Amino acid sequence: MEEKLRLMLKAAQQAIANAQDLEEINQVRIHYLGKKGELTRILRGMGALAADERRNYGQLANKIREEIEEALEKQTNVFKNKEKQERLAAEKIDVTLPGNVFYLGHLHPITTILNQIEDIFLGLGFSIAEGPEVELDYYNFEALNIPAGHPARELQDTFFITPNILLRTHTSPVQVRTMEVTTPNIPVKIIAPGKVYRRDDDATHTPMFHQVEGLAIDRQITFADLKGTLQLFAAETFGADIRTRFRPSFFPFTEPSAEVDISCVMCAGQGCRVCSQTGWLEILGCGMVHPRVLEMSGYSSEEVTGFAFGLGVERIAMLKYGIDDMRLLFENDLRFLAQF
Ligand code: DAH
Repeated sequence: MEEKLRLMLKAAQQAIANAQDLEEINQVRIHYLGKKGELTRILRGMGALAADERRNYGQLANKIREEIEEALEKQTNVFKNKEKQERLAAEKIDVTLPGNVFYLGHLHPITTILNQIEDIFLGLGFSIAEGPEVELDYYNFEALNIPAGHPARELQDTFFITPNILLRTHTSPVQVRTMEVTTPNIPVKIIAPGKVYRRDDDATHTPMFHQVEGLAIDRQITFADLKGTLQLFAAETFGADIRTRFRPSFFPFTEPSAEVDISCVMCAGQGCRVCSQTGWLEILGCGMVHPRVLEMSGYSSEEVTGFAFGLGVERIAMLKYGIDDMRLLFENDLRFLAQF
């Protein structure tokens, strides 16, 4: 009997040592100490023994049970500890790892330039006017002294919606819309920033682009006022060293008309590829508002004069940032846009 118990203890100890996890430890417990376990079976067999023998073996059996329980407990703790260590290891945070970088967006370069242009003219006392992008022929052409048959009205230059409705090809119609509501009050000093549309598509033209229109009407506005205003604008935009040049030109809605060049921002006027060796870059069109345009919108050309100008925002952005293809501005490639 004693031999049997000792063998069983050995086997139980072996099984405990071999157990791989808590589940197997539990199996061992059931196998030896459970209701139908080995120890229970041996104890049951003791009924046949004499009373004192039964007491001796009973004591031994209890001791062995305690030993098995102790061994089970010990091994259970080992596994529980191991589990805890594993969980801690899995939950470990490496504070030296690089963080998740959140990229902060910024304004589109066109918006940035538009804001800068607006700031300059707001500082000069101009206010901001707006007009529709889907425009009537009358405002886009007729009231700007662009008669039927003018090349600007050609189908290949303009997106027509109906023969009478089109996507505005410039911001100049806002001059007319403004004069219609301000007449006969003076002074008028507005800029009109916005999108315009033309059937053009190459490295320096996109079908949609942005212009800023300017209009000033008052008694005795002169070409000198126009020059001073635009010179100041150029210096604010491109730096105090920039030089400007007013070249005679033609627009149906201004008389006289001029185009404004700035000294080349790349070569400072020396002559390079960007300025086609001329040392000058064209940035805008301007002039004194044509008397007929004033009259058509309700102002008396005897009493007031005005100047007007229109500039391309993309062109300014390209010159300022050294961008050589306008289409890049609208492809929304973040690798490109993030540079500005
Ligand atoms: N509207 C002209 C264009 O888009 C630009 C322009 C020229 C606007 C002269 C003006 C101006 O106000 O006076 O080409």
